[in-house]
Amino acid sequence: MTIQTQNMPEHIAIIMDGNGRWAKKRNRPRLFGHNAGMKTLKKIVRASSDFGIKILTVYAFSTENWKRSEDEVSGLMKIAVDYFTSEVKELHENNVKVNVIGDLKRLSPKVLDAAQKAMALTENNSGLIFNVALNYGGRDEIVSAVKALMNDGIAADEVTEEMLANKLYTAGMPDPDLVLRTSGEKRISNFLLWQMAYSEIFFIDTLWPDFDEAAYLELIEAYQKRNRTYGSA
Ligand code: IPE
Ligand code: IPE
Ligand code: MG
Repeated sequence: MTIQTQNMPEHIAIIMDGNGRWAKKRNRPRLFGHNAGMKTLKKIVRASSDFGIKILTVYAFSTENWKRSEDEVSGLMKIAVDYFTSEVKELHENNVKVNVIGDLKRLSPKVLDAAQKAMALTENNSGLIFNVALNYGGRDEIVSAVKALMNDGIAADEVTEEMLANKLYTAGMPDPDLVLRTSGEKRISNFLLWQMAYSEIFFIDTLWPDFDEAAYLELIEAYQKRNRTYGSA
């Protein structure tokens, strides 16, 4: 697959949605869909490295996803642990830097341990930055950032956008250029609320397990055709 290197998005963020419906269509349990979704994620991480994307951020579990059944939540957490432990070697070999973002305090020791090991091993890698949003909520992130500024003793009058941005999980990273949501739902679901201010957003009907490298390439090409004006005429 060849890609136009001009106008490449530096940062791509993905709301990986539709695993449950994909499984339902096959009369299988929701976790079957989540496992299939994990396979798609592996492909898309590799493709992101191959395409020379600098940052990939994926929404894996939201602060609202705890409302799902205990079985589904524990199944999703198990998939996360398996992913971090089984994929980390390949990610490391490919110079990928894993960065788990979200309120990690609520994760179980097992999940936290696997996430921290993956981050520690890949910490000094200089290739793709791979942000995995786990127990992530955009509002929660902004509230935490405000608390951090207040704890630093910053006076209200002194607060700037840059200062707040530097307290977010994505501190130091450019905002996403392209945000994709699969599955046909047209909402943001508490993802990257601050960072998405000027992102180009794409909603596609494909269910996440059916998304692939060819569709990813098509998406990037569609992004490259968009005209970004940031409020100018
Ligand atoms: C997205 O797929 C994965 C997570 C939220 C963890 P869903 O599980 O939301 O799938 P649908 O939306 O029910 O099809
Ligand atoms: C958003 O998907 C969260 C993730 C993809 C992890 P949901 O399926 O949870 O979002 P809603 O509930 O449809 O808004
Ligand atoms: Mg969903």
